Amino acid sequence: MRVVLLGPPGAGKGTQAEKLVKKYNFPHISTGDIFRAAIKNGTELGTKAKEYMDKGELVPDEVVVGIVRERLVQDDCGEGFLLDGFPRTVAQAEALDDALEAMGVNLPGVVNVDVQQDELLARLTGRRVCRGCSGTYHIKFNPPTVRNVCDKCGGELYQRADDTIETVKQRLDVYRNQTSPLIAYYDQKGLLLTVDGSREIEDVFKDIIMLLDK
Ligand code: AP5
Ligand code: MG
Ligand code: ZN
Repeated sequence: MRVVLLGPPGAGKGTQAEKLVKKYNFPHISTGDIFRAAIKNGTELGTKAKEYMDKGELVPDEVVVGIVRERLVQDDCGEGFLLDGFPRTVAQAEALDDALEAMGVNLPGVVNVDVQQDELLARLTGRRVCRGCSGTYHIKFNPPTVRNVCDKCGGELYQRADDTIETVKQRLDVYRNQTSPLIAYYDQKGLLLTVDGSREIEDVFKDIIMLLDK
């Protein structure tokens, strides 16, 4: 199965991806996670990406597209993959179309996780992420059993550098201007599957599975 998760910052793409990967056993390709790993490892890519991420801006298309293209041709993507946070611009979506065509495969659908702006702000400013496994929590909506400790791996939880109110507002603006046109892009292709992402995590998951298994 090949799936794209579309949605604004904080919609729950990463949260749902964790659950989908367990169910469908495909690789989770999150461009945000790739950049955060590069920053942690102090690579050249990390230094470049950090410049944009800290400001809530998008990393340039040519950088992101190159990384995803290389990732999609690796062996573990043969049976399918889950893209989370890519594409994020029309140029990236067109590049993905080309890459899939070259691979001789197509997308069965694009899942659009729909959540209102005010809810996104609350979700992002209360988010905590595991340093060990990137597991995602929320201080109110999805707290770990022990404060600041990951339920899955015992790792320490931290707050992402771009989850401050100011940067979150900028990311939401960038989403509106550069990413939301993808909703019409995929709708025109007849690929758009929209779920109400404002419901409980489990309910959103059930809706996504229902749409994908159709
Ligand atoms: P990225 O890491 O992709 O961040 P994002 O798109 O801003 O999305 P988030 O990870 O913030 O949100 P999410 O939808 O995954 O929500 P989550 O599940 O964590 O990108 C970061 C940066 O990298 C970008 O700003 C850009 O600079 C760069 N970048 C990445 N990809 C790029 C690309 N393709 N092109 C260019 N630049 C790129 O959930 C959020 C919170 O809500 C959590 O606390 C969670 O516990 C909680 N929550 C989740 N679901 C629910 C629910 N149903 N009810 C209540 N709370 C919930
Ligand atoms: Mg995410
Ligand atoms: Zn963990």
